[in-house]
Amino acid sequence: MPDVILPAAPADVRPAARATHDLYGPVHKGIRFALTQLLVRLGSTDFADAEAAALMVIAVRAQLALSASHMAHEEAHIHIPLRARSAAACVMVDYQHDHHRQRFVELEALLARMETAPAAARPALGRDLYLAFSLFVSEDLQHMHEEETVTLPLLQRLFTDAELMAMEQAIVSAIPGPEMITWMRVMLPAMSRPERGLMLAHMRADAPEAAYEAVLLHAARPTLTDADWSDLMDRLAA
Ligand SMILES: [Fe+2]
Repeated sequence: MPDVILPAAPADVRPAARATHDLYGPVHKGIRFALTQLLVRLGSTDFADAEAAALMVIAVRAQLALSASHMAHEEAHIHIPLRARSAAACVMVDYQHDHHRQRFVELEALLARMETAPAAARPALGRDLYLAFSLFVSEDLQHMHEEETVTLPLLQRLFTDAELMAMEQAIVSAIPGPEMITWMRVMLPAMSRPERGLMLAHMRADAPEAAYEAVLLHAARPTLTDADWSDLMDRLAA
């Protein structure tokens, strides 16, 4: 009986050495952690209390700056090379980033009003701020879902793991030390124990010792429960 020669499978189902590196996962877990924690804090704040209101203005501004920085890094180090290989790949995510920036303008206007409002007007402004921030959080959750379920598979099809890791490394290198501590303070408590252990083991191997020690001291220890810290120490000692 002659050998049966099967036709080649279409390209989209043919097994290929496809990249697997997920350059969104860890940082997006941190962003979800930061946004939802801050949303809950906004909801429980007594805005008639001047000090509490001022603290929330600082906290929301800091989060908007962090989110803006994240978008700029994605655009410079992911969108530009991705567009070069697939012209339409970033239409949706670019639109969502621009929409976020419009939300930042609206939120900053509310923050500025909160800073000068009399005590009697602050609770109503606090409600406006809470609702506006919740809207931004819901939009960013959808946006990150788009990036992780549509953009990431495309990146993994069009780039090698080495290229994806180089993009991620370019982003990490562009972040100044103090901002990196801020990122680690939201990323480390948001990830699983195995993920956390692997990330810090890689950091210990690749980053300057002082940077690694600073992350342990200023990001991991203050944000982890005693049980999670103890687990991390065990993993790093293994
Ligand atoms: Fe994004």
